[in-house]
Amino acid sequence: MREPVTMAIVGAGNRGQQYARLAAASGRGRVVAVAEPVAERRERVARAYGLPPEAVFADWRAMALAGRLADVAVIATQDRDHVEPAVTLAGQGYHLLLEKPVAPTEPEADRVVAAAEQAGVYLAVCHVLRYTPFTRRVRALLDSGRLGEVVAVQHLEPVGWWHFAHSFVRGNWRNEGLSAPMLLAKACHDVDWLQYVIDRRPLRVSSFGGLAHFRPEQAPEGAGERCVQCGVEASCPYSAARLYRSCLGDPDRERWPLGAVVDTPTPEAVEVALREGPYGRCVYRCDNDVVDHQVVNIEYEGGVTASLTVAAFTPMANRKTRILGTRGYLDGDGATIKVFDFLTGVEQTIDVWAGESMDAAGGHAGGDAGLVEAFLSAVAHGDPSMIKTGPAESLISHRVVWAAERARREGRVVQLRSQT
Ligand SMILES: NC(=O)c1ccc[n+]([C@@H]2O[C@H](COP(=O)([O-])OP(=O)(O)OC[C@H]3O[C@@H](n4cnc5c(N)ncnc54)[C@H](O)[C@@H]3O)[C@@H](O)[C@H]2O)c1
Repeated sequence: MREPVTMAIVGAGNRGQQYARLAAASGRGRVVAVAEPVAERRERVARAYGLPPEAVFADWRAMALAGRLADVAVIATQDRDHVEPAVTLAGQGYHLLLEKPVAPTEPEADRVVAAAEQAGVYLAVCHVLRYTPFTRRVRALLDSGRLGEVVAVQHLEPVGWWHFAHSFVRGNWRNEGLSAPMLLAKACHDVDWLQYVIDRRPLRVSSFGGLAHFRPEQAPEGAGERCVQCGVEASCPYSAARLYRSCLGDPDRERWPLGAVVDTPTPEAVEVALREGPYGRCVYRCDNDVVDHQVVNIEYEGGVTASLTVAAFTPMANRKTRILGTRGYLDGDGATIKVFDFLTGVEQTIDVWAGESMDAAGGHAGGDAGLVEAFLSAVAHGDPSMIKTGPAESLISHRVVWAAERARREGRVVQLRSQT
């Protein structure tokens, strides 16, 4: 049995703690340092992994000053705070498990990749969907030739009405200036997934979308500034009071989404957050500007096409995908795959349920665990081929996202440069 890979957690929020937990549970990783400004989170990690005070930091810069403390750094800070720790820690020789997006812009992402290459360290981007049992099965079916040649893919990312309100109206990803466009913050996973299953060079992109609903002029008559002082809260599907109070008592939902709202899940803390915090605000009166629905069409080499719809206005459900091949048709939803064979007219149903839901609370249906396992194994065995989401792959799909955003804003078809 190999020694566990040692890990420094940079940003011990929702994702940082999740990767720490999964690494420890798998026995493949051992958390030896943490950098986190929020005392409660920092101390929770220090306690959970028995860290000495000299391995506990309030900021990644202070951690960097101490020199290299671990084999890998897990960079799980917010979207706009990935680049500097990634570049610095790569330079110190840490292998990087880096949350998506690599960076908000292409030049910054190029900087991160160049820093990792120059330092000769591994870089895995947390595109967790590539690591689910569902995706493995879809890829195996495609590789087996059962569908013939793939001609087109139709993919829906049903974000879910309350999840969208939580993350993209009230929460961390509500405003492009604070994080990133919704497509980069959320659906870079889907663009990346399409890239993985289609496995061809993307050539051009078009996109439409906007912020249809979560705007002041859509507020119903009688709406208050906050749900706890609103005359129409009971009839509002986006009530924060209903959402967050109902999480109490359910450990998974206390971790997410409630973990973003309060550090300690008590009824008192929830009421304070509803009265005073950003997550108690009326969805029609926030400082949000990211789109709530978007379509993206991509053309790949060989004329293969993909269409992606991302939208708030759905139940909280798994992604839905249809793959259209010359010999067969696949319809999948993360739990079940149906394959229809054109020669025999027979449909086969394959159950690939990983026992975990597709959301963050459920570990993305095995994707989080699969990613951690692949990355730590790659480091332990010195074999980067185990990483399915290295810098080259991740840059290709990030570039499609940036091109799609240009296409949407400028109302045109954007050609991708030949490097992708
Ligand atoms: N791969 C996925 O499926 C997935 C899912 C959700 C979020 N994400 C991404 O993960 C990242 C983190 O998201 P989250 O939900 O965990 O956010 P979070 O806000 O819960 O965690 C970020 C943490 O970084 C800490 N931080 C801020 N400044 C720091 C500094 N100088 N040094 C060290 N730590 C610092 C914050 O205090 C916070 O605890 C984001 O980029 C997000 O887009 C990825």
